[in-house]
Amino acid sequence: MTLSALHTNLGSPDAYIHGVPHEVFAELRRHEPVAWIEEPAGEGFAGGPGFWAVTRYDDVMTVSKNPGVFSSHRGASFLRDQRPQDLAALQQMMLNLDPPDHSQMRSIVSKVFTPKMVRGMFDSIADHARAIVDALPDDGEIDLVEHVSAEMPLRVLADVLGVPSEDRHLLYDWTNRMVGLDDPSYGGREAFLSAFIEMFKYSAAQTRAKRTEPGSDVWSLIVNAEVDGTQLSPEELNRFFQLLVIAGNETTRNLLTGAILTLGEHPGEREKLANDPTLLPKAIEEVLRFHSPVIQFRRTVTRPTELGGKQLHEGQKVVMFYVSANRDEAQFDDPDDFRIDRGAANHLAFGAGTHFCLGNSLARLEAKVLLETLFTRFPHWQVTGPPDRFRSNFINGIKKLPIHLGKAT
Ligand code: HEM
Repeated sequence: MTLSALHTNLGSPDAYIHGVPHEVFAELRRHEPVAWIEEPAGEGFAGGPGFWAVTRYDDVMTVSKNPGVFSSHRGASFLRDQRPQDLAALQQMMLNLDPPDHSQMRSIVSKVFTPKMVRGMFDSIADHARAIVDALPDDGEIDLVEHVSAEMPLRVLADVLGVPSEDRHLLYDWTNRMVGLDDPSYGGREAFLSAFIEMFKYSAAQTRAKRTEPGSDVWSLIVNAEVDGTQLSPEELNRFFQLLVIAGNETTRNLLTGAILTLGEHPGEREKLANDPTLLPKAIEEVLRFHSPVIQFRRTVTRPTELGGKQLHEGQKVVMFYVSANRDEAQFDDPDDFRIDRGAANHLAFGAGTHFCLGNSLARLEAKVLLETLFTRFPHWQVTGPPDRFRSNFINGIKKLPIHLGKAT
């Protein structure tokens, strides 16, 4: 097959419906590491003109670390271009800002969102893990996503946002409808827009409440935090609420599901972990590299530049394929081998540079505590069917994964 036939589809959510097409990315890394991809016209697409696919580790680093040339301003999480009338709202979200605006907003938020704050959540995360595992039947088959992987990030987010724990199901529904825009089972554009409006109303009420009566939750601290006398505006707070709900949910859920799926597919590595549970933190890093919950984030070129031997022009879209950079043979030995003791924490699953994931230590802690608790109670779990994959060109997602728990210990 020719290279162009292989990669024509990479912008389409259908390209990922049977899993990430790693052989296509390997071809691109080898022969055309910065490749122009035409976007197909049709539902969910702007219909072109296309984007640059960046597939090598070093090039993804270059793009991530040069926001002056590769800007987030036209949208970082949508491959498709936004309508001009939607851009202003988008640019109130940290994810879609460049320095210095981004630095200002990030400094307010990162004052609160610190490794110390995350360490302080250990006890409540351990309680959640126990509650999730205690609620499982003693034996029998379950859907891992619904009963385990989705539950942990939702419960933690409810704590972070200071909302009642029962409302976590609202958060689940909204984030699925928003990130599931390209997946027909979530209802398409109508469902996306109504979720957006419902979440907006909810977060506005929450923000007002925490301004007048702050609680001990992280959201109250964020709402009232200031740097040089500046606080986030109500609009910025609403956008940040939305960002946390989406960024903290879909990604961590798919890290957890990806861990079980990948360990299930590699019995030798699973046994290694069972024999030496202290390998779990390294195993989680390897799942992050190997499974990469986020397929890509996007930038827009601000001035003519060269990358990977190609001439890039102002206004063109540049897509950083983390799923490919994390399998770059120039960076990782035998990258298609899943080795839980590889010890490579230099993967790009959390991005790099200016927008490096704010929630990385929280996601790592959630995964460690939950997997430890699950494996201790149910050491004999088995994946019993294929994953039902999310139709998306953004999140490497799994909607359902049947597992048999095996006898509880
Ligand atoms: C940014 C991945 C969990 C909050 C990012 C970016 C990536 C990423 C790749 C970079 C975006 C860019 O460069 O444009 C992940 C993965 C996760 C995860 C794979 C779990 C396995 C979380 C959690 C939270 C969170 C748990 C918070 C509760 C954020 C925020 C940003 C971000 C706020 C934007 C930072 C900025 O714009 O400066 N994440 N994330 N993430 N993530 Fe995460």
